[in-house]
Amino acid sequence: MSPSPLPPVPQVAGLPALTPERFLADGFDLRRQLADHLGLSLAQLSERLPSSTDQLAALHPGAFDPERAGAFYEETVGDGHLLELAAWHLGSADYIADTLRLQQSFAHGHVLDFGGGIGSHALAAAALPQVETVWFVDLNPHNRAFVEARAVELGLAGRVRCFRDLDAAALPARFDTLVCLDVLEHLSDPSAQLEQFAERLQPEGIALLNWYFFKGFGGEYPFHFDDPQLVERFFRTLQSRFLEVFHPYLITTRAYRPL
Ligand SMILES: C[S@@+](CC[C@H](N)C(=O)[O-])C[C@H]1O[C@@H](n2cnc3c(N)ncnc32)[C@H](O)[C@@H]1O
Repeated sequence: MSPSPLPPVPQVAGLPALTPERFLADGFDLRRQLADHLGLSLAQLSERLPSSTDQLAALHPGAFDPERAGAFYEETVGDGHLLELAAWHLGSADYIADTLRLQQSFAHGHVLDFGGGIGSHALAAAALPQVETVWFVDLNPHNRAFVEARAVELGLAGRVRCFRDLDAAALPARFDTLVCLDVLEHLSDPSAQLEQFAERLQPEGIALLNWYFFKGFGGEYPFHFDDPQLVERFFRTLQSRFLEVFHPYLITTRAYRPL
C-alpha cells in the first residue's frame, strides 16, 4: 500500500526545496558533494560505492570491540561510513524518501538528529519552514565535517548545527522533535539511550525511531547488537517511557510521544 500524498510544504524564500521527490532525483546532490569532499572524480566515486558495505563489514571482527562501540564509530570507521551510507541512501532511495515523508509530517521546532550519518534527514528537516534549527549529533568527525559542508552548499548553514554528543553545552535542554534512524542497534546500551531521549524531549515532543537488532541472515551487519537481554531491556524501556503515535508511512519506523 503506498502512502497517501502529503500536502505540499509551503516554500519559504531562501530555503531550498529538499523534498522527498528531490531526494529521489539526486539525493540532494549527494554524489557530487561526496566526490568533491573526498577529492574523487564522479567516476572514482562510482567505482568505490558498490564495495563500501563489504569494506565496512570487513573491519570486523578485528576492529569492532562491543565494549568500545563508540570508539569504533568515532575513530576506526573513518570516512568509510560516508561511502557506505551514501551507497545505501542512493541504492534504497525509495525507502529513505519514505522516511523523509514521515519526518516532514512530524518535524517542527528544534529537531535533534541523533546519529545523523551523511545528513539526508538533517538537511531535509532544516529546509522545512516549521523547523527552527536542526541539531545534528554524530560521533564520527568525518560525518560531521561532511554534513557541515553540505549544509553550507545547500544554503542551510545557519539552520544545521553539528555536535559530537548530547553533552554539548550549546544544545537545547529539550527538543521538539527527535529523529534517530538506524542507530539504536549500533549502541551498546540502547535502553539507556531511550531514557536520555525521554529526558531531552519536550512533553509534547515527538520521537521518530527505528531499530534492527540483528546481524543479518548472512552476517552482513556484524556491528549490530543482538543480545536478547539487551533487546528485552530496550523494549521494556520503550514501553514504559513512550507512547506510540500512529502514522501511515512506514511500519518499520515508529513515532512516539514521551509518557
Ligand atoms: C547506520 S548509521 C545511520 C545514519 C543515519 N541516521 C541514516 O539513517 O542514514 C549510524 C550512525 O550512528 C552514528 N553513531 C554510532 N554511535 C553513536 C553514538 N553513541 N552517538 C552518536 N552517534 C553515533 C554513526 O557514526 C553513524 O553515523
